[in-house]
Amino acid sequence: MYTGMLHTHTLVVVLFLLSILVKTVLLLSNKKELFQKVRKKTLVPEMIIDTLMVVTGVYLALNSGLVQVGNWFWIKLIAVIAAIPISIIAFRKESKPLAVFGLLLVLYSYGISETKSAAFDKKGTLIAESTQTFDVKGSVMEQGESIYLDNCSVCHGTNGKKGLSGSPMLTESKLGYEDVVNRIQNGKNAMPAYEGLLSEEQIDAVAQYVMTFQE
Ligand code: HEC
Repeated sequence: MYTGMLHTHTLVVVLFLLSILVKTVLLLSNKKELFQKVRKKTLVPEMIIDTLMVVTGVYLALNSGLVQVGNWFWIKLIAVIAAIPISIIAFRKESKPLAVFGLLLVLYSYGISETKSAAFDKKGTLIAESTQTFDVKGSVMEQGESIYLDNCSVCHGTNGKKGLSGSPMLTESKLGYEDVVNRIQNGKNAMPAYEGLLSEEQIDAVAQYVMTFQE
């Protein structure tokens, strides 16, 4: 369900971006007739896309396992929700400045999504997120443990000491947090990659949990 929603969300976001981009470019390059044609044709599909985008986005935020959704999410939600009517009005009135503003808002929210920070500051959010998880450490650990038992214990054992498929003992691992996250995302040899299967927050939780095995 989560993965399905994630794929739908990614797809509609790309369609949304493309649609706004194409129309803004047509408007800016004074291709009025073509612009109006495209605008009319995309009116209904775009309404569906906008709705799907917001609904799947909110679903993902609520189900990603985040105990607390970061500020970046609310800023992004506001930017997207503002961008939708701004673009609609801009295209209806053929207002170039408004269209550009709408497009910038959309690109801005896309940037926020990718970096999970309102200021596109990846490092900053890592620190912010880790202080945030510190407050709710208990729940993050519980979540990490349940993800671990579901996905990882077959090979690594419930205590990190099993060695199935050539897996090393996690209790003897010397990897730092970043490398553990990296290993979970990308896998290695017999270890499957979990990027796309687990959300970023889930990977963070299970990585924090796995770190507790290290002696
Ligand atoms: C199919 C078996 C399998 C599953 C499932 C699996 N792993 Fe692994 N894991 C491995 C193998 C094999 C390696 C060694 C890869 C290598 O270095 O060649 C490994 C390596 C690792 C390492 C690096 C240890 C080190 O010090 O090199 C970490 C951390 C790790 N796994 C965590 C996890 C987590 C967390 C999960 C669940 C989300 C998981 N693994 C699921 C097989 C598995």
